Amino acid sequence: MGLATVPTPTDRCIADAHRDYPATAELTYMDVAARGLMSQQVRAALDAHLDTLASGEINKDDFFALVERTRARFAAMIRAQSDEIAFTKNVSEGLNMVATGLPWEAGDNVIVCPELEHPNNVYCWLNLRQHGVEVRTVAPCQGHLPVADMIERMDARTRTVTASTVTFAPGFRTDIERLGQACRERGIFFLVDAAQSCGVLQTDVEASHIDGLAVSTQKGLLGLYGMGFLYCRREWAERIQPAYLARFGVDLGDAHEASMGSEAYKLMPAARRFDVGNYNFVGCVAADASMGQLLTYDPKAVEHYVVGLAHELAQGFMDLGLPVCGGAPGAHLAGIVTVGELGSSHYGTDDARFNQLYTSLHDHAVRLSIRRGVLRFSLHLYNTEDDVNRVLELAQQGLGSSRR
Ligand SMILES: Cc1ncc(COP(=O)(O)O)c(C=O)c1O
Repeated sequence: MGLATVPTPTDRCIADAHRDYPATAELTYMDVAARGLMSQQVRAALDAHLDTLASGEINKDDFFALVERTRARFAAMIRAQSDEIAFTKNVSEGLNMVATGLPWEAGDNVIVCPELEHPNNVYCWLNLRQHGVEVRTVAPCQGHLPVADMIERMDARTRTVTASTVTFAPGFRTDIERLGQACRERGIFFLVDAAQSCGVLQTDVEASHIDGLAVSTQKGLLGLYGMGFLYCRREWAERIQPAYLARFGVDLGDAHEASMGSEAYKLMPAARRFDVGNYNFVGCVAADASMGQLLTYDPKAVEHYVVGLAHELAQGFMDLGLPVCGGAPGAHLAGIVTVGELGSSHYGTDDARFNQLYTSLHDHAVRLSIRRGVLRFSLHLYNTEDDVNRVLELAQQGLGSSRR
């Protein structure tokens, strides 16, 4: 499925997408950074799949066809080739597949910004210290990943640079193209954690010089927990010996899945070598249906729409005098708007006013999160301008009552 063939709807069409998501009738849902909403189409596809499972009349070839369609759809979403995609459980599994597969030597280094990455993009690197790998850490720059510093810290022993495309808090975008270009020029593996961007922001692994990309499906891809993808660029994948190996990672042509070849096995091309045993078919059903829906929109138009709403929300909070992370809306904004002072708690903020605001919004059926001590509002194509206006009105009322 080529992206060039999908229609380009207007923003108005995207705004109508909320009708496909039943929860939007009850909630003002601004929490895709935790997990996205399930559409009625995904629900129907899952129901049909469960009916098939319950009936006992299962044709596994249909399941394998589903797996390949899901793989192709994800490839289309990030502008990769299908065989550059492997199936994973989540982001951490994808990151670990790369971390454990690359040919490290003692004294090599990986560059990472632990303060801004999710812990799952930190522990996989700390785990390499046992092999003498240096984890070269950089500090954030006013909540941003310090791209210039990361480039400066690269040297002849740097094998991998890793970065979130968008951080989970404060939710700023990383200048992925610049970092990717610097890695490509030096032959360094550029690995991104795209948990907070895939499905919301347009992704083009070629244009961004990305060598590896890990994502889960329950956030912007609007699928289920327990299912994710790893993109690994062909040139790199074919130099990697996976740490785990099972039947689907071995090339036996059309032979049955239970066939054993000779002991001198050949790995599957590109990222298919990372596939292990049976797939998460239920997760595939959801991801296949949700990506099928997402792909009916031009990804550029989805990004434009969602980021536009985020700008309105950020500006509205600023007009209310709230401390929006990153200040005035600008190029750093993706689909996440955060409010407050960055801290470390994910259970509350350090400011009683914001804890009260969180509770008051929650009581009015707004869904958001607190991460790193800030209120996090995260948007997707099912959000509308009405949602933004409602949250701003509620915030104004909530702040008014907390001042009394
Ligand atoms: C940037 C980022 N990476 C990773 C994760 C989670 O990793 P995993 O999918 O392995 O649970 C999250 C949030 O859940 C995240 O926001």
